[in-house]
Amino acid sequence: MAGFVSLVGAGPGDPDLLTRKAARRLREADLVLYDALVSPEVLELAGGARRFCVGKRAGRRESVSQLTIHRLMIRAARSGERVVRLKCGDPFVLGRGGEEALALNAAGVTYEVVPGITTAIAAPELEGIPVTHRGLASAFAVVSGHAESAYGPILESLAPNCITLVVLMGIASKANIAAQLLERGWRAETPAAMIFAAGTPRALSWVGSLSELAAAPAQGISDAGTIVIGDVVSLKSAAAQSEREKSTAVRVSR
Ligand SMILES: C[S@@+](CC[C@H](N)C(=O)[O-])C[C@H]1O[C@@H](n2cnc3c(N)ncnc32)[C@H](O)[C@@H]1O
Repeated sequence: MAGFVSLVGAGPGDPDLLTRKAARRLREADLVLYDALVSPEVLELAGGARRFCVGKRAGRRESVSQLTIHRLMIRAARSGERVVRLKCGDPFVLGRGGEEALALNAAGVTYEVVPGITTAIAAPELEGIPVTHRGLASAFAVVSGHAESAYGPILESLAPNCITLVVLMGIASKANIAAQLLERGWRAETPAAMIFAAGTPRALSWVGSLSELAAAPAQGISDAGTIVIGDVVSLKSAAAQSEREKSTAVRVSR
């Protein structure tokens, strides 16, 4: 039987937030190549598969090159295996899923894409922050904070305080991002949040203002974090549903 590859979005971390198709593909997989941010709880669903981490984390050396990932997927599919390439969030949002689809297509390998819930929306949402809200924000932008060459021109192009800004891979660059926005004329008191490990038992968040973002505590937190900047962040306490939210008044909350 011909093998095939499923490029699967794992969502933010909670297995209950996987699509049914993603869960089925994991249960049926022979081989799972997963990124470092995929939660162990999601991986457990692929108990019958060989599982290899091929991902990298910010600041660490890339463990497996992108080309090697392409080769591993292609070779396994050609030998008849059901391969799941598992990525956090959605595979086509800042996740190089598009490159992998192109490589599979060029190799003539059958593949599919299984969308996942992107953390760009789910991380704020799980903390009670809607990325849009009537009267506060009619749009949101998702930007990579990985390199200034990527986010700089985008921040430059935005009118101050006109939308919600969501930054992925931006914790290490938060001081620079905040400085650029303030320089562009964003209000210093614009609400801002950092959300770490959303959708996992380790979820942790900080809420403050744009002028406080640079000095906000993030050192020592090994989990991935998403930054949200905009007036919608002020809805966090009002919209949050969980007992955890109700019972805490501290600015860094777990
Ligand atoms: C390489 S990007 C991949 C984004 C992913 N494809 C998506 O749609 O969410 C990785 C970034 O996603 C964010 N991220 C991933 N998982 C997260 C989580 N559980 N909580 C908060 N942010 C997360 C962080 O900003 C992290 O640096």
